[in-house]
Amino acid sequence: MGSTQPEFKNPATASLLELAKARRTYYGLKSESPISDDAIESIVQDAVLHVPSSFNTQTSRVVLLLKEEHEKVWDIAISVMEGLVAAGQIPQEMFESQTKPKLSAFRAAYGTVLFFVDFESLDPIKEKFPMYAAKFDPFAVESNAMSQYLVWTALQSEGFGANLQHYSPLIDEQIQKTWNLPASWKLDAQLVFGTPTGEPGEKTFLPLEDRFKVFGK
Ligand SMILES: Cc1cc2nc3c(=O)[nH]c(=O)nc-3n(C[C@H](O)[C@H](O)[C@H](O)COP(=O)(O)O)c2cc1C
Repeated sequence: MGSTQPEFKNPATASLLELAKARRTYYGLKSESPISDDAIESIVQDAVLHVPSSFNTQTSRVVLLLKEEHEKVWDIAISVMEGLVAAGQIPQEMFESQTKPKLSAFRAAYGTVLFFVDFESLDPIKEKFPMYAAKFDPFAVESNAMSQYLVWTALQSEGFGANLQHYSPLIDEQIQKTWNLPASWKLDAQLVFGTPTGEPGEKTFLPLEDRFKVFGK
């Protein structure tokens, strides 16, 4: 998909775009890693350090969970959902046939990256720039999403498959307690990763001409 590749001055540009095109959502994952835990950690740390944030506020907080620690996230999600079934908020049959198999599939992966935003850390800059005050929270979420995308793409580049989940606020309290995280860290997304056991689903694309314009070329 997309236009024919022009000549780039730096071959790394073509590689970067190839990685962007190759990144997909993988749901079938197993608990094996093609790379060392140190390499995974380095990818996540680089994203935390080098992804930009508005006014360089550095609002993203990230927790990398591997193996048994990763499984705890999905045990929490399963037990929270079981509570909702017991309370009559989710039909038992739907939980058994859909929710539990989905959560168990996430649990079967190798790791989860938890992405948080520390909105409280923005209080001083909101006071300093009251004109922008309402913008800082959305900017922080946008910066967090950039980190998610970079980690997702880099993990896939190393042979992992990954999918992005959003079980907040259901799991927030247990997540904070289990890893004793600061109360100001607000959970945004969970990136589940592991060695792929299948291919991603088919993906369709809206016509580029409906979504992109260029002027002055
Ligand atoms: C901001 C955002 C939120 C998403 N939330 C979820 C989610 O909660 N659960 C899920 O299974 N996939 C989620 N996805 C994955 C998208 O459904 C997926 O990226 C999209 O269908 C395109 O497929 P691809 O990732 O294979 O390119 C999310 C993706 C983005 C960018």
